[in-house]
Amino acid sequence: MLETMEQMRARASQCAEEIKKHSLIHVVSHIDADGLTSAGIICTALDRMGTNYSTRFVKQLDDMIITDLADQNHELVIFTDLGSGMLESIKSHGINAIVSDHHQPKGEMQNHINPHLFGANGSYELSGSGTTYILANALGDNRDLADLAIVGAMGDLQHMKMGYLTGINRLILKEGVDSNVINFEKDITLFGKQTRPVFKLLQFASDPYLPGLTGQEDACKNFLSKHVTRVSGDEGWRRWIEYDRDEKQKFVSALVQYCLSAGLQSYKIERLIGEVYTLLKEGEGTEMRDASEYSTLLNATARYDHAEIGLAVCMGNRGDAYEQARKLLAEHRKNLVEGLMFVKKQGLSKLTNLQYFDAGSSIRETIVGIIAGMSTSITNDRSLPIIAFADTDDGVKVSARGTQDLIRKGLNLSEAMSKVSAEVGGAGGGHDIAAGATIPVGAKNEFIQKLDDMIGMQIRNSKQ
Ligand code: C5P
Ligand code: C5P
Ligand code: ZN
Repeated sequence: MLETMEQMRARASQCAEEIKKHSLIHVVSHIDADGLTSAGIICTALDRMGTNYSTRFVKQLDDMIITDLADQNHELVIFTDLGSGMLESIKSHGINAIVSDHHQPKGEMQNHINPHLFGANGSYELSGSGTTYILANALGDNRDLADLAIVGAMGDLQHMKMGYLTGINRLILKEGVDSNVINFEKDITLFGKQTRPVFKLLQFASDPYLPGLTGQEDACKNFLSKHVTRVSGDEGWRRWIEYDRDEKQKFVSALVQYCLSAGLQSYKIERLIGEVYTLLKEGEGTEMRDASEYSTLLNATARYDHAEIGLAVCMGNRGDAYEQARKLLAEHRKNLVEGLMFVKKQGLSKLTNLQYFDAGSSIRETIVGIIAGMSTSITNDRSLPIIAFADTDDGVKVSARGTQDLIRKGLNLSEAMSKVSAEVGGAGGGHDIAAGATIPVGAKNEFIQKLDDMIGMQIRNSKQ
């Protein structure tokens, strides 16, 4: 891994030389936590050099946006957390570009920095923000931005494979620990440890789904009353960070016992404990203190057309932008719960090699992928990848999510989505474990049948 890091640093230095030649740069990034933290890292680095920049956030990079960027005649465009799937198009439009990304590359480009080029996997060993952190550190000493790099990796769920960050992500984590901006420890993985009363951690648990607790407020409150001596403090229900060591231990053993008697499989119970990452510069009890909560706060902005708010938070705004982000977060949470309820009610349709649901216009296309990922917790069948459809203005959005087990068996969603969407007149890409596409209205049936065949083929071929 150290060798890969060195190779990436060399490529970053080459890109930095080009960046240093320009005084005005256009940054184009992706509308999610990883895209925002990537932009936050590169824009902070440019600020520190006294270089001017403008920004643009997009759902995905397609030919129309690339044509538009070419028409704008920027001196230099830095693409972060996207671009690797569109290298040929960027080149053919004559855009002077740096691409700092971690998606599976298609084509080639000189100023292209991506873990896949150096033998590392961009779905769990390095995020877009981590790649951009390496680039930023070729421009100057920006090691204090390691915390943002980790937030981006958590936003892309890069810790899920092992239960902790690994690969180059881990090297960056160590740099962050050395710079005193972040630390890591084993703790409960339920979401909301900094900001929410503990019963809500149970009530909104989705990975794993806790039978008899998830979605049931009263049951969660009863669980606490039974197992925790002091459920409330001066300010009402206590949060996880207010529990002492002993209380935490009692709670965890009670919860594990509960899960065992509820018949939850052991691999699911194991996921209750994992490595968690704390941002030491952030105030205790704020979303930004915990890398996972921070990434959700950011998703709540960019995925709702308010990337500028998320970017301002990444660049240190703890006033207006932070307040607005928190309002958006409340809305985002509501949408996630409603989306999951929709899937639960409608159920998943099964084909031979995949299962799918069609959200129509009930789930926003920018969060349907998150919900597809979360719905692994409500289906009992983890042996098939989950595909989700949602209506968009310019066609149908498709999101696909797999599991590590399926990848070991040969599944590559990026390849499957990219090929099959192209066959029906759409476009897509992503990672082996999570990919997306946009296809024309009316192509849904043909698409899902072909995707079913393609995934079947991937798994059969790797058996031989
Ligand atoms: O653009 P992009 O790299 O952001 O997206 C990665 C996506 O992959 C995220 O939506 C993330 O939630 C998903 N993912 C997943 N399971 C994993 C790893 C990533 O669903 N184990
Ligand atoms: O949108 P969704 O969360 O499902 O995206 C999953 C992954 O697929 C992300 O990494 C995203 O960047 C990628 N994707 C893509 N092309 C699309 C849609 C999504 O490469 N048209
Ligand atoms: Zn990413």
